[in-house]
Amino acid sequence: MRINKYLAQNGYASRREIDKLIESGDIKVNGKEIMQGQKVTDNDKIFIKGKLFEKPKSENKVYFLLNKPRGVLSAAKDDRGRKTVVDLIDTNERLYPIGRLDSETEGAIILTNDGDVFNKVIHPKGEVYKEYFAILKGEIKDKDLSRVAKGVILDDGPTLPAKTKILKRAQGRSEVIISIREGKNRQVRRMFDAVKHPVVYLRREAIGKINLGKLELGQYRKLTSQEINYLKSL
Ligand code: URA
Repeated sequence: MRINKYLAQNGYASRREIDKLIESGDIKVNGKEIMQGQKVTDNDKIFIKGKLFEKPKSENKVYFLLNKPRGVLSAAKDDRGRKTVVDLIDTNERLYPIGRLDSETEGAIILTNDGDVFNKVIHPKGEVYKEYFAILKGEIKDKDLSRVAKGVILDDGPTLPAKTKILKRAQGRSEVIISIREGKNRQVRRMFDAVKHPVVYLRREAIGKINLGKLELGQYRKLTSQEINYLKSL
């Protein structure tokens, strides 16, 4: 982006005032003098009258996808000092996890400082399916899996229809994929409890179109611009 636009968008001054500073040689980029029309990115060091320009924090929206390990809480802070998902991400921004995974569940969780996106994913107008891989106790019968898919009655009401797929049944265990579009507390665990096949392992694979992919446990990455646009479109 042209430097006058970049600095104006980041609240430094108007484009005309910035152009004047460029004319008078008061702006340098990465130690070099510049001309009108110079292009810059967030990675360039812009000095105005010898002082490093810092982009205001509030303008800096960040979006991360974390592969949450077991035992880590999905909260910004914990009163009892336990480790949270925010502790795993190295940034100066104030992040909030979008939605929750219970402490024992692994997998995809998005963290951001963008309040608008936060609300869209929590209260989507459309349907955001969250996909989970689960290992269940016992070899689940097709009829029980379809009961889960149709919806079961939990203490806090019935669940919406879900998508389910059996991957494997062997040696007293079943591996399944389940996609749900609500976020009741410990929902997947309670849905399988309802058909007497408790979950012994749970991992969230995807939130809508945003996939864990090859992200290792405890690792995180920035969302791509496509993924960010997708979240904003919800
Ligand atoms: N369902 C659960 O049981 N736990 C989660 O963390 C998310 C969905």
